[in-house]
Amino acid sequence: MDRRTFNKLAGLAGLVGISALVKPEGTAEAHTAIEEGKENRKQWGRYFMGTAYYPEWWAPSEWEIDFRQMQELGINTVRMGEFAWAIYEPAPGKFEFDWMDRAIALANRHGIDVILGTPTASVPPWLYQLHPDVLSGNVMGPYTYGGRKGYCPSSPSYQAACASIVTALAERYGHHPGVIGWQLDNEPGFPFDAFDPDSERAFQMWLKKRYGTLDALNREWNGAFWSNRYSDWSQIKFPTNSAEGGWQPAITLAYRRFFSDSFLSHLRRQAVILRKAMKDQFIATNWPSPAWSVDVFTAATEFLDATAWDNYVIPPGIGEFQRQYGAGFNHDFSRCAGPRQRFFCAEQIAYVPANAPEEGLRLQAYINLAHGSHGHLYFEWRRPQAGGEQYRPSFIKSFDGSIQAKSIFKQVGKEFARLGTRLAEATTRADIALLYNFDNEWSQGFGSLGPKGRPYNNEEGHYYNGFKVLQRNVDVVPLSADFSTYKLIVAPNLHMVDDATVARLRAFVSDGGILVLNYRAGTQKMDVSMRRVLPPGPFAEMAGVIAEANEVDFIEYPVLEKAEFEIIFSGSDTVFRPHTILESLTLQGAEPIATFRGGRMAGRPAITRNRHRQGWVFYVGTDCAEDGFYEALARTVGSIGRLPPLIAAPYGVEVVSREDSKTIFYFLLNLTETTHNDIRLSKPMEDLLAEQAGVTRVTLGPLKVAALASSKDAGAKYAG
Ligand code: GAL
Repeated sequence: MDRRTFNKLAGLAGLVGISALVKPEGTAEAHTAIEEGKENRKQWGRYFMGTAYYPEWWAPSEWEIDFRQMQELGINTVRMGEFAWAIYEPAPGKFEFDWMDRAIALANRHGIDVILGTPTASVPPWLYQLHPDVLSGNVMGPYTYGGRKGYCPSSPSYQAACASIVTALAERYGHHPGVIGWQLDNEPGFPFDAFDPDSERAFQMWLKKRYGTLDALNREWNGAFWSNRYSDWSQIKFPTNSAEGGWQPAITLAYRRFFSDSFLSHLRRQAVILRKAMKDQFIATNWPSPAWSVDVFTAATEFLDATAWDNYVIPPGIGEFQRQYGAGFNHDFSRCAGPRQRFFCAEQIAYVPANAPEEGLRLQAYINLAHGSHGHLYFEWRRPQAGGEQYRPSFIKSFDGSIQAKSIFKQVGKEFARLGTRLAEATTRADIALLYNFDNEWSQGFGSLGPKGRPYNNEEGHYYNGFKVLQRNVDVVPLSADFSTYKLIVAPNLHMVDDATVARLRAFVSDGGILVLNYRAGTQKMDVSMRRVLPPGPFAEMAGVIAEANEVDFIEYPVLEKAEFEIIFSGSDTVFRPHTILESLTLQGAEPIATFRGGRMAGRPAITRNRHRQGWVFYVGTDCAEDGFYEALARTVGSIGRLPPLIAAPYGVEVVSREDSKTIFYFLLNLTETTHNDIRLSKPMEDLLAEQAGVTRVTLGPLKVAALASSKDAGAKYAG
């Protein structure tokens, strides 16, 4: 492409980028195009057992050996090309695809299908040289060339260059029978900052569209506070280095909403291009975690065929067993977001530290399958000889060419070839929902970003882990979910909530549902301004409790002595310590199920429950760093909620189920290194691993798993 064509595309893309702020462009075209029943069985009819592979790193003479070895291990899918922009396009508009043609052909010849990444996560040097604005920046200033990521989704030059490379790839491979799907970009939304002039201008336009007038913005942001009252849109800057006070709540939330929208537009533009050119292929992307900086629920609803995430959860056998629930949380989130529950792990940790048992590899794979994943691709086949990740080991092929963990790999490959097909139609049904709301996440902080060091995802994770003790499935859903399908809704950190959602939750409880809320629930409107109420605000009546005095906040006032306080559940001797906060609760009809001990809070309620019409509301006026606290809460909630385990298994054994029209599949996952003998089943089931029918007892060795099937015809119902 010559310079003129490039500039023309840049201009067009600039327009597209701007119009994206007015109406998400191409939403209709980007929407899932694959019709039910017309799908390629290679996509969803089996389990992807795969790996990331970078042919561009190796001499072509080695590719054949690599693909052959993959085939021998049972690998059926590779992901390639997501960082190959400079190799595909060594100079502006000069494309070289022959090498990828050969790599795909070789992979296919060895029975391996290909997922191609669009390579837009790392720009080629020539592009940055021509248009330095393709890179954004962070608080330290503009990103400089040399690493990866950091692109500016609002830069017209970047948008044009992406449109050009994605179009060329779509034309080349959109009909390739050996390419089964596309990964858009790589880990979009990470890093979490994009501060540059194009983004700032786009932010101002985004605000204009959202608020209409500066009066409205100033009113909502309380422009009178510290005199930040704007009289021109161009005065609104990213407060990356403000003298005091940093980012105020309203601009923090607005920025994060804008950031998410800009990345959604970036991905949507690619999806539109691919959709037009492709046939029998799917579109996904690999979120670093679905619970971070881009609204995955919206992406999946609007333009993805499946969600995917990169699973770097620490291998089993190191640390507490609850760490493995980190995978469950991300799986359940991806599954609930994914169209028709479709999701997979686009990357899966291929590193087993020497002090971790290799058996954990198989357990991690089964955690994926149990939660409904359609596959996992290890990161990565072999470590690079040079480059930023040259010391990142891979358990698959090591530097001396040998294949490690071969027997486990082969076993998983063999088992999953069978189970993947058997479970292809099986989905997950849950009656427990954990609410996840991006607006609350963005305003409370996530990852390393936390306005007050109390990041949203910490509590989400704690509640998820705690409620797993009930040994039932958990959905992770947005506020827009249909609440009526659940018996229990756990809604931590719901500081911001709109009246309509409060009304829907009230109806849910009135009809017999159980709702779990925690401190500061309902205290903010969706624009993050405070409601003129005491916590839990609009929930106070149904919760039967109110926080009248100020809270004890260990983050706001680190001088307060934490060690002074304990939390004790009624009828139990175990005590827990509060972590960041204690609310001072006054009962207004509720009864305490846990109280504080120590200091002037002694005897005050820590957790309450209240009967509201047919249902119950639990209110947790504190938090804790220990999983045991949340497990104790979950047990109390579960005991009144008729929520028995799917299969009663010992502590540390995760129980998950999936089902299709004929069968319920149960997975027992021993997350611990303790052997559990004689786990009794309530009825005879088929043991899918031993390939034996009529099994009534199961023994699980350290980190071992059982996969069981129970026919619905034989009277088995969803255990609910
Ligand atoms: C992921 C990333 C990969 C690779 C990997 C290393 O987050 O997508 O490209 O860097 O981490 O663990």
